[in-house]
Amino acid sequence: MSWCEKGNILIVGSGIVGRSWAMVAVSAGYRVVLYDTVHQQVTNTIQIIRQQLNELEGSGNLRGTLKVEEQMLLISACSDLAQGVEGAILIQECVPENLELKRKVFQELDDLMNDDVILSSSTSCLLPSKLFSGLKHVKQCIVSHPVNPTYYIPLVELVPHPETNPAVLERTYKLMKDIGQTPVKLMKEIDGFVLNRIQYAIIGESWRLVKAGITQAPLTVREREAKESPPKSSNVQDLPPEHLQPHRVQSQDHKIKEQKQVTRLIESVP
Ligand SMILES: NC(=O)c1ccc[n+]([C@@H]2O[C@H](COP(=O)([O-])OP(=O)(O)OC[C@H]3O[C@@H](n4cnc5c(N)ncnc54)[C@H](O)[C@@H]3O)[C@@H](O)[C@H]2O)c1
Repeated sequence: MSWCEKGNILIVGSGIVGRSWAMVAVSAGYRVVLYDTVHQQVTNTIQIIRQQLNELEGSGNLRGTLKVEEQMLLISACSDLAQGVEGAILIQECVPENLELKRKVFQELDDLMNDDVILSSSTSCLLPSKLFSGLKHVKQCIVSHPVNPTYYIPLVELVPHPETNPAVLERTYKLMKDIGQTPVKLMKEIDGFVLNRIQYAIIGESWRLVKAGITQAPLTVREREAKESPPKSSNVQDLPPEHLQPHRVQSQDHKIKEQKQVTRLIESVP
């Protein structure tokens, strides 16, 4: 396993979010190791990263001081989880939003990791107490919830487990700042974290205003694009359409659960 002065970041799951973390981390000079149970997925992801970094460079939006080829040299694929964990300062889990699956992945990592590495989850809404309880290394566990598209929206919510060592929260905070993100610390976990709660409150109020006949629903981005020509330079519109997708859900069951949670949060808004 190769080493980097800044340290290795192991990304477990190389879908949309894994790819975004990788792009952000290499732009700041961190070495990234990508692991996925579907190895072809890692190969495809590395190709997409190269293509996107080239596009970003072409449009003057490439982050950091390193050139595309220098950033690409920092990315490697890994098919053995134990090997990927070796030398990592941060393990960023990015597997689908499924509690059982994530817990299985954390159990596996718990047996492989040392007492220093930070084990961080990208979950959008699963509580740290559900994800990490019972792990030997629970004090090293934290949720780092990114926003999509991560490359352009640097906000990251840091949500500790009740047993997370405060030093781990601080180290994660510093690491996130160093990779160019804007971390926000939560002092304790709460359903929906902070960002989802604020977004749902805004969505809920918007629905209420439309329902009360005070205003009309605005045009969607795609309807607007069909009517007007898109602005010449817009960060978000430069991204491929998959970046504009809302949080992806893996199954109908999961979708229903997520919708119920949104409804519950909206109803809880006074
Ligand atoms: N997509 C978003 O907008 C967004 C934003 C913030 C947070 N999140 C969260 O990030 C996480 C990942 O979401 P995503 O959209 O990237 O999902 P995705 O479906 O695009 O990617 C998940 C990847 O994990 C891989 N995988 C599945 N099981 C695995 C295992 N056991 N070990 C290693 N890899 C495995 C899959 O092959 C796939 O490549 C989810 O928890 C999601 O809630 C998503």
